[in-house]
Amino acid sequence: MRIPFIAGNWKMNTTAAEAERLVLEMLERLDKIEGVEKVLCPPFVSLVAISMMLENSSIKLGAQNMYFEAKGAYTGEISPLMLRELCGFVILGHSERRWYFGETDEQVNKKVKAALANKLKPILCVGERLEDNEAGKTEEVVSRQVTAALSGIEPVRDLVIAYEPVWAIGTGKAASGKQAAATIQFIRAVVAKLWNKGIAQDLRILYGGSVTGANIAEFISHPEIDGALVGGASLKAEEFVGIVERTAEIKKRTK
Ligand code: 13P
Repeated sequence: MRIPFIAGNWKMNTTAAEAERLVLEMLERLDKIEGVEKVLCPPFVSLVAISMMLENSSIKLGAQNMYFEAKGAYTGEISPLMLRELCGFVILGHSERRWYFGETDEQVNKKVKAALANKLKPILCVGERLEDNEAGKTEEVVSRQVTAALSGIEPVRDLVIAYEPVWAIGTGKAASGKQAAATIQFIRAVVAKLWNKGIAQDLRILYGGSVTGANIAEFISHPEIDGALVGGASLKAEEFVGIVERTAEIKKRTK
């Protein structure tokens, strides 16, 4: 059984004070929701404070990126050693990292390896751009990204994959549940080939891209879709809690 998974990627939003306020607004209700793994991914500068706020709660913490070296002269970077004291998860290969900051498949692969070596669970993001989608290259692109990111890595269950089509991120134009489920099924087949069927069946694969309280049900009611990586809607306490509550209800019903 794959435990449903909802993560909030706050991206470059919230000052330290705003981040604490947002956690306070959702903490009590979010903490009570059972049957869903809940993860908040605030900016680096809020990880320390929020890790303390989440102590003794059922809510987990994740970072949004990291460098693959453990330490050294890499001005401005954050290492797995620094993160592992604070959080259990780290988002890697987000399309904003790939497209705005030139992160390559090879770097993503190094980051996934470094995260796993440090007991951080990667939330590995893959997804095609609009032009790839329109050219019918979705499967080719995600297959390349998944294969490259997992290259040289022994099969592990401590990994979550998020399928985030670039054209659906922050645009208000989410994929349809059917489209997302089909690509997620394809990704599972890629993992089965790369690793094995058992692991592929056990891995959580999420959808991300313009997920809201209004459309979460469309995704989560597909058995193939194990949860969501939520951007904009995770910055609104009421809406994010609603997304997690709906997920818990629907997944319980369709178990
Ligand atoms: P939005 O939910 O704002 O479209 O962002 C999705 C995303 O990129 C999550 O990582």
